[in-house]
Amino acid sequence: MAGKTVLTGVQATGMPHLGNYIGAIRPALQKAAHEGKSFLFIADYHALNSVRDAAALTRDTYEVAACWLALGLDPAQTVFYRQSDIPEIFELTVALMAVTPKGLMDRSHAYKAAKDKNEAEGRDVDANVNMGLYTYPILMAADILAMRAHIVPVGHDQTQHIEFARDIAGYLNNTFKPVLVQPEGLIQPQSATVQGLDGRKMSKSYGNHIPLFIDAKARQKLIMKIVTDSKLPADPKDPDTSTIFQLYSYFAPDADVALMREAFLKGGMGYGDAKKLLAAAVEEALAEPSHLYNEYMSDLPKLDAILAEGAEKARAVARATLSDVRQAVGLKPLK
Ligand code: ADP
Ligand code: TRP
Repeated sequence: MAGKTVLTGVQATGMPHLGNYIGAIRPALQKAAHEGKSFLFIADYHALNSVRDAAALTRDTYEVAACWLALGLDPAQTVFYRQSDIPEIFELTVALMAVTPKGLMDRSHAYKAAKDKNEAEGRDVDANVNMGLYTYPILMAADILAMRAHIVPVGHDQTQHIEFARDIAGYLNNTFKPVLVQPEGLIQPQSATVQGLDGRKMSKSYGNHIPLFIDAKARQKLIMKIVTDSKLPADPKDPDTSTIFQLYSYFAPDADVALMREAFLKGGMGYGDAKKLLAAAVEEALAEPSHLYNEYMSDLPKLDAILAEGAEKARAVARATLSDVRQAVGLKPLK
């Protein structure tokens, strides 16, 4: 990926959980460490389509920023910023609206899902659908195109959005002249699904999640609530279907994981003891990041300064792109 610009956006929907960390954040950080030019931003204007609590949006944005930094994002290597700090993205959105057919938005999976849900529940198809949700893919295209990103690593559910960004760039390029880079998605291989407290996929929407940075005691309490079957300590147990074992395998050193596997298979380790080992391993892995997280959250001006520095770098790129677009369509260029 040498010489390529890599960009991704993260939702500002609050404190991530262990599943987000294992499935999305950790792999992204590992990859970022090997990349050339990369951009990572918090999609706070996208969040505004669904968040109706101003204080929550402010807090969630800080929490997400603090999480990524605490877990190892290096802002000297990755340009890290808030979407809302880059006004050029929003002007570019307006330019892209002018070349995007309405039919493309009608085909958007996110909009279709909202319509289907309304229909199934007997409401007007467009109930609670705002124009932000309807045009979500255009803003997302502007996020990507403004930074001239070549590669956009995303989860499977975002595949259509990347195709739309390519299409929208193509409409503008073909209608006027080729000024926008057409990005490619790098669809993350489906990572193992981390199980939640009740054994289903860990998800905020199921309320079965363990948030990353909460008080250590509260985290321990949640771990003790992991649902198990009723096997006795002496009984052999299947590690591969156990939520406790699965989580342990992500957080404990390999040698310890092997020991727990053996104890499960042979029998002799109770679920209570296994949970205690898990809690200790999670604490060990998250001790330093938790400390950093708390430091960031108690120094919001510092977080603001880091994000402002990222925004300054990102704006320079976005401004150049916007100027080219303005010039291409017959508006006054900025430079
Ligand atoms: P949630 O289901 O809690 O709302 P999101 O859908 O916002 O989580 O997911 C954000 C990212 O975290 C996505 O890349 C997703 O693939 C990953 N992720 C979420 N839950 C899990 C999980 N249980 N196991 C592995 N990865 C997950
Ligand atoms: N829609 C993405 C998600 O739900 C977040 C996002 C917004 C994004 N803008 C982006 C991702 C630009 C990649 C590039 O996860």
